[in-house]
Amino acid sequence: MAQQEWAYRIHGGEPVVGQISCLGAKNFATKAMVAALLADSPTELVNCPPIGDVAITRDMLVAIGASVDDEAGRLRIDPGDMRSSSVPIPDSGSNRIPILLLGTLLHRFAEVSVPVLGGCRIGERPVDFHLAAIEQFGGQVTTTREGYLARRTRRLRGTTITLPYPSVGATETCLFLGVLAQGRTVIANAAIEPEIIELITMLRAMGAVIFTSAGREIRIEGVERLNGTRMPILGDRIEAASWACLAGASDGEITVHGINPNNLGNFLAYFQQVGGGFELIDAETVRFFRRTRLSPAVVETDVYPGFSTDWQQPFAIMLTQAHGISIIHETVYENRFGYLAALNQLGANTQLTTHCLGGLPCRYRDKNHEHSAIIVGPTPLRADGNVITIPDLRAGLAYIIAAAIARGTSIIRGVHLLERGYGNVVPRLALMNLQIERIPCGSIL
Ligand code: EPU
Repeated sequence: MAQQEWAYRIHGGEPVVGQISCLGAKNFATKAMVAALLADSPTELVNCPPIGDVAITRDMLVAIGASVDDEAGRLRIDPGDMRSSSVPIPDSGSNRIPILLLGTLLHRFAEVSVPVLGGCRIGERPVDFHLAAIEQFGGQVTTTREGYLARRTRRLRGTTITLPYPSVGATETCLFLGVLAQGRTVIANAAIEPEIIELITMLRAMGAVIFTSAGREIRIEGVERLNGTRMPILGDRIEAASWACLAGASDGEITVHGINPNNLGNFLAYFQQVGGGFELIDAETVRFFRRTRLSPAVVETDVYPGFSTDWQQPFAIMLTQAHGISIIHETVYENRFGYLAALNQLGANTQLTTHCLGGLPCRYRDKNHEHSAIIVGPTPLRADGNVITIPDLRAGLAYIIAAAIARGTSIIRGVHLLERGYGNVVPRLALMNLQIERIPCGSIL
């Protein structure tokens, strides 16, 4: 039977005021689930978010024989009975995790196969760095129509890897390969996102020997075995920044719980620069508001500690309300502005260009990708029953912000993409004064 499709109906136009709690970060929870497979005893993950991506990852782990018990966000993962080295795509779908399983499971099995990847369509998203890393550790990789196959004939060996770009996923693959490989591994030009640092902490707690340094270099001394551990999942910094943008864009005031402000890094500086304000309530609570009339900004997305590519969509909505011309240069993904066309339907004035509107080194220069956006503000947004369809996960939350500030009623379709990363956000948002309902798509006239 076809699955019921859901939509959100939002009646917007008022400042959004209230309190909201961030879930555990999707982009750490799913990686921590993979890390648990490296141990020879069970791991307990606390504050695991009830989201689609965790369910997809859980189904993959269960399919290869690991046991995964979920008790209200407390995930107990026992890799003891893992006996299959062939990862299927579960009924719940695919995500970016299979490529991380390829290297991880290669410690335990001489041959591993994983399916092609899912995840948001925001660019080509190749996995060449992952495959090259596995080969450098001594594995042999074959790419098939269905996915990837890795083999080894002996224990993997530590190596020096210089990543061509500080990829989050490829850094994770190298960490997973290095911790149980024989000898020393050096990862140069590694990603240093807060979720990576958290993953290093978790692996250390499992017995891994990992050294970080001031630059982008990580050194690992391989060990023979790892033990399970207990690990809390840190709050989602992407989600927290989105709620900040909701407060700023709607001229509201939102207290966000469950977020360590240190992990928001330069977002806080950009937020303040355009007229947002914040108050630190305690170590994990921040109140966001609009401090003054919003002013425009020039933003270039970048790897951490730069402005995250996952922050640009909610920030763009806020910039539609700024007085002047703003520019966003997306340097991480070549196709991450798919959401702007629908914004223009609501009254925004945005335009895309293939030029690099910024000074950061950019892999998309002269490649004909529309990866820079010009946003002219302020434009009041208006909805008259407009139906907008979410193109990717982070754009989904941006649409909620757009609908919240648009006068009138908007219908947001494609919410399964958003719920992969945020779960059903309606009960959390409805605790504020936002009028939002989750309705079956069939009921949209
Ligand atoms: N890249 C390659 N080859 C590779 C790997 C990456 O060319 O083998 C390129 C990518 O195409 C991209 C850039 O390197 O242009 C950065 O990709 P990265 O590997 O860092 O991204 P990822 O690990 O696939 C994670 C998050 C993304 C987030 C990025 C950047 C997960 C599951 N996903 O993706 O989050 O945008 O890091 O911070 O952790 C999201 O959550 O909605 C999302 C897209």
